[in-house]
Amino acid sequence: MTYPGRRTCFVNHSSPAIMTNPCRRDEALAGITDLNINLMTATVPETKIDGYHSEVKMPRVMVVDDEKLNLKLIAAMLKPQGYEVILANNGEECLSKVHETPPDLILLDIMMPGMNGFEVVNRLKQDEKFAMVPIVMVTALQDVNDRVKALEVGADDFLSKPVDRMELRARVRSLLKVKAYNDHMINYRHELESEVRRRTLEIQETNKMLAKAHEKLRGASLETIFRLSRAAEFKDEDTGAHIISMSRISARIADRMGLSSTTVESILYASPMHDIGKIGIPDRILLKNGPLTEEEWAVMRLHTVYGGKILENSDIGFLRLGEVIAVTHHEKFDGSGYPRGLKGHKIPLAGRIVAVADVFDALMSRRPYKPAFSADQAISIITDGRAQHFDPDVVDVFLADLPELQRIWNASQAEHQSEISISLKSQSAVKPE
Ligand SMILES: [Fe+2]
Repeated sequence: MTYPGRRTCFVNHSSPAIMTNPCRRDEALAGITDLNINLMTATVPETKIDGYHSEVKMPRVMVVDDEKLNLKLIAAMLKPQGYEVILANNGEECLSKVHETPPDLILLDIMMPGMNGFEVVNRLKQDEKFAMVPIVMVTALQDVNDRVKALEVGADDFLSKPVDRMELRARVRSLLKVKAYNDHMINYRHELESEVRRRTLEIQETNKMLAKAHEKLRGASLETIFRLSRAAEFKDEDTGAHIISMSRISARIADRMGLSSTTVESILYASPMHDIGKIGIPDRILLKNGPLTEEEWAVMRLHTVYGGKILENSDIGFLRLGEVIAVTHHEKFDGSGYPRGLKGHKIPLAGRIVAVADVFDALMSRRPYKPAFSADQAISIITDGRAQHFDPDVVDVFLADLPELQRIWNASQAEHQSEISISLKSQSAVKPE
């Protein structure tokens, strides 16, 4: 004897015709016995459950009913279909077992002693872990209000008692398909989220590497500029202390004037290039030991123009600022400066700031043609130049911040002396005997 959807049924059994047609509901309900149940569960499913890889994971159905016979009956109907069936005798047992053996579907009786089916559904649907598990209410209740209530608490479907085997199987199969699809989508979403996290980490790592590379490149560029600026200074001032101290003082004044940190940093890196045009001044004028003639001064003033030419047309911000500073750091607030005789606020602010820092450092430093002035003398000269040589606002900030500016100047000198000592030591270390 064979049945639709089965490979074998009751084969070689001593009582093969206990039910002439077990597919009929009335016989299934009326003739159910432990023996029949055992026989039914012994059959082998012919097909896989749609939506499931049954060879990998057998769909698990939990049946909850306080009537043991009902449990056995439904189990007998489902097991031959290849489902793993878990039984629970009441609501409390159901809520306990779902954690031990999470089901793919729950067939739940409504009228049970203790916790009824409504409460069980309500509890399960509020638990994120089980909210997507389909629940079929199995009930003898025909009242529409009961069914509405079951839907309101989250039930997905109904089966009426007595349970019809074909209907049960169809409902179970259908809801398991939905569950399988939901599981697939949840897994897919988790995979996507995992992939997004992985890619995000990769991008963050790449960004970190790029930032490091960018910082290294920027550092290399700045150091190159600084050393080239030092080379330009080297001919007439024989030390690099000037560009260290004047650039730091310029940046400090810019900061105290309330300029943005980006601008302050740009001034720090651009101001060392203020005299880079001296490369174009002949040594006989640049290194002359004595006062310059008017003609020689005319040539000397051209270092501002040469500096602008060297730095012009750059796409890099602080090089463009370097050009502005190179061209304008000898302009004077009253319009008597060079090369263009700009007046007042027509002189770019960076040029007005660097003018004060440049002169202050030059006054404080010893030169072949002059001794180092005291701090008081240098401050007095700067103060006297307020609103004539220098922008009064810049001078006011300079005077208000003198202790820190003097500290910066002293620290720059000490740092430079330290560099010279290290350089001399390393030179003597490689000197051949
Ligand atoms: Fe200059």
